[in-house]
Amino acid sequence: MERIGILTGGGDCPGLNAVIRAIVRCGTAENWQVIGFRNGWKGMLDDDFIVLDNQAVSGILPKGGTILGTSRTNPCKDQQNLDKVRSTFNKHALGGLIAIGGEDTLGAASKLFDEGLKVVGVPKTIDNDLNATDYTFGYDTALNIATECIDRLHSTAESHNRVMVVEIMGRHAGWIALEAGIAGGADIILIPEVPIKIDEVCDLIRLRHKRGRTFSIVAIAEGAKLADSDVTVDAKKDQFGHVRLGGVGQQVGEIIEKKTGFETRVTVLGHIQRGGTPTAFDRVLGTRFGVKAVDLVKRGKFGFMASLQGRDVSEVPLKAAVGELKLVPAEYYELAKKFFG
Ligand code: F6P
Repeated sequence: MERIGILTGGGDCPGLNAVIRAIVRCGTAENWQVIGFRNGWKGMLDDDFIVLDNQAVSGILPKGGTILGTSRTNPCKDQQNLDKVRSTFNKHALGGLIAIGGEDTLGAASKLFDEGLKVVGVPKTIDNDLNATDYTFGYDTALNIATECIDRLHSTAESHNRVMVVEIMGRHAGWIALEAGIAGGADIILIPEVPIKIDEVCDLIRLRHKRGRTFSIVAIAEGAKLADSDVTVDAKKDQFGHVRLGGVGQQVGEIIEKKTGFETRVTVLGHIQRGGTPTAFDRVLGTRFGVKAVDLVKRGKFGFMASLQGRDVSEVPLKAAVGELKLVPAEYYELAKKFFG
């Protein structure tokens, strides 16, 4: 009986359990044994795993998070860890390893493939900033949560005649802020790709209020940068060296209130966007990606990952997905701007 391994790495994401379930269901149908490494690459370093059979994945489809746990451990930082991963891989005589993750996890998968390991990838991130796939699962759920939050902020903003600044996830790419802002009718959207002048933001709010509106909603991605102010993002780093953002919404809110005189409140959506049950879209996409990953292992297409191209799930080299992020194009932001103010 062939044995394959799977792991989930990076930030958790609604739809991960749909992928795990699909891999286990399709893998066992091939008469494979599926083992799941706990907490991302850390599980391979520690040889910490569980056997996954159909019973183990029963009922997990609608659940958020990942039953395997996750971490941001990157095994490629030193040779000793790479050797540990190889030794765990060989110890279990894996016929293939399916790494489910974002830029970091898949970057490691790509490197391990270069080192000769049989690895395939499944793209995951709520940020939707991975290249070589039209969408990642998790994004639709996060987008819907953020949109609903903007809807809810409208009624309280209007009742109190306030400016509401809503800080939305997205360190380097502003997909969630942009599309939730469009869907929720935000009056201004600030994203990392387009530095915005704070005076222009304040002018837009003043104009809007002059036209008789008594409230405004400002959607801001956590990685947004303001060109002409002393606003800086809090550049703390987590234990894995990733920038931990948070704070830009608060700072922008304070400046808006000071410059315009309009009472302002700030809401940071944070991990609410990542938690809880996945949308139907993410469950379906996760399921399709899981099926594809098993197909890739079966066909020996190592070094590839599942990818959504239009309505079709196909395969692309892992290398095409990593190295550079998929940012919001300038023309898309221009479209959003038509509805500012
Ligand atoms: O990459 C997904 C993401 O949710 C980002 O949008 C966010 O900046 C980051 O993860 C938060 O990471 P953590 O869960 O480590 O706080």
